[in-house]
Amino acid sequence: MTRPDHDDRVPTARADRVVPRPNTTFKPRRRAMSAARRRDLDTWLGRWGLDEAGPPLDWTDVFGDRPVVLDIGFGHGETTIEMARADPGTAIVGIDVHTPGVATVLDAIEHVPLPNVRVVHGDVLRFLVRVAHESLAGIRIYFPDPWPKPRQHPRRLVREDVVPALVDRLSIGGELHLATDIAGYADTMRRACAADDRLEGGVIERPPARPLTRFERRGLDEGRHPVDLRYTRIA
Ligand SMILES: C[S@@+](CC[C@H](N)C(=O)[O-])C[C@H]1O[C@@H](n2cnc3c(N)ncnc32)[C@H](O)[C@@H]1O
Repeated sequence: MTRPDHDDRVPTARADRVVPRPNTTFKPRRRAMSAARRRDLDTWLGRWGLDEAGPPLDWTDVFGDRPVVLDIGFGHGETTIEMARADPGTAIVGIDVHTPGVATVLDAIEHVPLPNVRVVHGDVLRFLVRVAHESLAGIRIYFPDPWPKPRQHPRRLVREDVVPALVDRLSIGGELHLATDIAGYADTMRRACAADDRLEGGVIERPPARPLTRFERRGLDEGRHPVDLRYTRIA
């Protein structure tokens, strides 16, 4: 029997069970990139990238003894870069599927050396199999795609079948930090996190250390207000 190129399932918590992945969480966007930019992208990925698929990673090989934070869906990467600069003792693995955004972040890393950052050009639901359980000090998901229509909600990234797989990867004491400016999505996030009894936390004040991204700025201009949720893995 032939196997598909990709295994369209996401690992779940507590066992090695996997569940079907109902839909992609992103909309493929095509924006032309010049041949030169594509060549640069390949070169930079060779230096600073981690492959979406492959064997489980040993973070010590990649970053030494720095604690590691996974930054999911960085968009244009303002947050990833600013937070990495502000805290060089913490390693950040940024992941996004959107090629021009990945190129922007790699460009910054290449020109302002940031040895504490690595970039994955890919889908976090596939990449998770490379991330060992209890190996992350933190996970950040800032302004995931809102998928506002009810029929689109199964595409949202933060949902009840994904949160346990994320929590598996957090070490005890590790933090999951979420932000959204879509009121209904904040409720979904809260419910999904409340359903995992290894998490403790909830809504917090917007932390000043979280940089303002262009996505958040656009929401503020349109009258939306961000909600931050922070959880700690306690068991
Ligand atoms: C609305 S944007 C927000 C970007 C950024 N965090 C910000 O606040 O400006 C959401 C990002 O998540 C990315 N994304 C969605 N699903 C993803 C997935 N499964 N794996 C990796 N990135 C994903 C999208 O490509 C997009 O860049």
